[in-house]
Amino acid sequence: MDLKQELESLKDEVIAQINNAQDLEGLNKIRVEFLGKKGKLKSILKTLGKLSPEERKEIGQIANKLKDTLEQLIKEKETVLKEKALEQQLKNEQLDITLPSKWIKAGSSHPVISTLIEITEIFKSMGFSVKEGPEIEDEKYNFDMLNIPKDHPARDMQDTFFLNNGKVLRTHTSPVQIRTMLKQKPPISIVAPGRVYRKDADPTHSPMFHQIEGLLVDKNVTFKDLKGVLQIFLESVFGKDIPIRFRPSYFPFTEPSAEVDIGCTVCGGEGCRVCKGTGWLEILGCGMVDPNVFKAVNIDPDIYSGFAFGLGIERIAMLKYRITDIRLLFTNDIRFNKQFKGIR
Ligand code: DAH
Repeated sequence: MDLKQELESLKDEVIAQINNAQDLEGLNKIRVEFLGKKGKLKSILKTLGKLSPEERKEIGQIANKLKDTLEQLIKEKETVLKEKALEQQLKNEQLDITLPSKWIKAGSSHPVISTLIEITEIFKSMGFSVKEGPEIEDEKYNFDMLNIPKDHPARDMQDTFFLNNGKVLRTHTSPVQIRTMLKQKPPISIVAPGRVYRKDADPTHSPMFHQIEGLLVDKNVTFKDLKGVLQIFLESVFGKDIPIRFRPSYFPFTEPSAEVDIGCTVCGGEGCRVCKGTGWLEILGCGMVDPNVFKAVNIDPDIYSGFAFGLGIERIAMLKYRITDIRLLFTNDIRFNKQFKGIR
């Protein structure tokens, strides 16, 4: 067979194969087999050297033309196969855009935290700034400097967790008052939210719970200021019509001291189990900062006066959401927690 014939039959073979190619991969194989560096066309052309110059020219031209033709055919086939592949892909990957998208479950704040945030925001709106203190606290700040000396019966009011290193788990947020007054000169107006700990566990007491402390110190601060601030606060949480009363009480760090009650939100004041038949609910403790506390932090009680208050967040959350057992707030039962979704 001479070279011309060889090229001719190569052409027929390649065209047949291109026509039969089913996919891009197969087509590429054909390209490599015939037109590649070690392809059949190249090996035929290697024998050109043996021919006479005229023949070489003629065959060379035929071979080049053949190469162009085949490349063109492969290119065309490639376009067809690419389209086919895309079509197939679209068919296989049926995309149902009417399906609902994957649902990302959004979390939400725990009712205690959302109550704490709400309360903090109310005081912030009245100009109080927010301070935090450590939960592992020195006895000196938790007790002594708050006018609760050792062996004073007032220490028994709060069942304390004592730690081996001589520190305590703070029993209230009141030590943040001391820490703030040691660092800052009056005027001072802060609230201090956070966790506190007491050896106590029953339907209304948890060994860990949250409080928010308030402290305002300046010249000429009176009990009237305290009443005004607390009234605005309680009305913001429980509504404008909430009955409020101040009842004389005792705290070592305030003098005079008071406890504040609101009309029972469950029975409306008639008397029920929640308010133990009194029609009133104890909400917070407060008073005018005791001069002994001022002396402990080097603030002159003859120049400055101030008020302080402290309240339990869980108690407010329980009243707000009508929760009767505090333990529900801490057992992390997802069925319980889910009910507060969207509240904040
Ligand atoms: N620390 C008190 C407690 O945990 C609450 C309290 C009462 C805080 C009166 C105060 C206050 O700042 O003036 O029971």
